[in-house]
Amino acid sequence: MSESIFNEGILKGRVAFVTGGGTGITGGVARALAEAGATVALVSRKMDHLEPAAQAINDNGGKAIAVAADVREPEEVEKAVAQTVEQLGKIDIVVNGAAGNFLCAAEELSPNGFGTVVDIDLKGSFNVCRTAFAQLKEHRGQILNISATLHYLATPMQLHVSAAKAGVDALTRNLAVEWGRYGIRVNAIAPGPIEDTEGMKRLVPQPVKDRLLKKIPVGRFGRIADIEKVAVFLCSDAASFISGVVLVVDGGHWLNGTRLG
Ligand code: COA
Repeated sequence: MSESIFNEGILKGRVAFVTGGGTGITGGVARALAEAGATVALVSRKMDHLEPAAQAINDNGGKAIAVAADVREPEEVEKAVAQTVEQLGKIDIVVNGAAGNFLCAAEELSPNGFGTVVDIDLKGSFNVCRTAFAQLKEHRGQILNISATLHYLATPMQLHVSAAKAGVDALTRNLAVEWGRYGIRVNAIAPGPIEDTEGMKRLVPQPVKDRLLKKIPVGRFGRIADIEKVAVFLCSDAASFISGVVLVVDGGHWLNGTRLG
């Protein structure tokens, strides 16, 4: 973040376990949590994404480690959580950002294609929440899930992701209710179209981008920085009475899915 709106060190003393924290939106979230004073474990399948991201945080005066794990594999998640606790002492923030995406028409989607995205986004988030539960309970921690707005209306070519993210929203609400008694807050951010992501560059052709822009009431695409600020807020004590919320950060985009074209 170029200019912070938060007090310095607002997350000092916290340890965040961030899946998908090497790149994209969640990479930005991890960086922002570190800038706010948290120590972060960046967790994903590919160490070649994680190590430069951890290095960049460390070079910038923060503290980060890279931990390899596929969130689809409960045993790998268990090892990653154990390694984080061993190296950083505890976990009190979990960010579930690991996600898979590709464009595919529903009639062409294979069972494994559908299942792979559900396995990463939804089951992976559950695996991490479940495994980190003891730490979150001990430290009255919190979970931040990275969701989407795709499933609020139908989004062609995105059935698999829409189904997975609808599940992520259910996970958010259910865990907020079930784990509130342990002092654990559970929230999600639903980003709209964010311009500076790999997904936007890779998945959205220019003509679609042009149409999309016209549908965003605030008149611009989002930036990763827009999500970072919200993540820091939700993880901070300023949000201590917020739980079970899926906070849409989309410049009003999804509401503008007008029936009038
Ligand atoms: N269209 C249709 N089906 C696809 C697909 C595409 N573009 N990409 C993957 N699939 C299907 C595969 O065909 C396979 O199903 P099958 O066995 O029936 O053929 C299934 O999904 C699993 O694919 P595979 O490549 O073996 O899985 P993976 O675990 O290596 O990777 C993803 C899956 C989703 C993570 C992969 O698409 C990927 O690496 N994407 C880039 C990273 C990414 O998505 N980042 C998020 C940015 S928003």
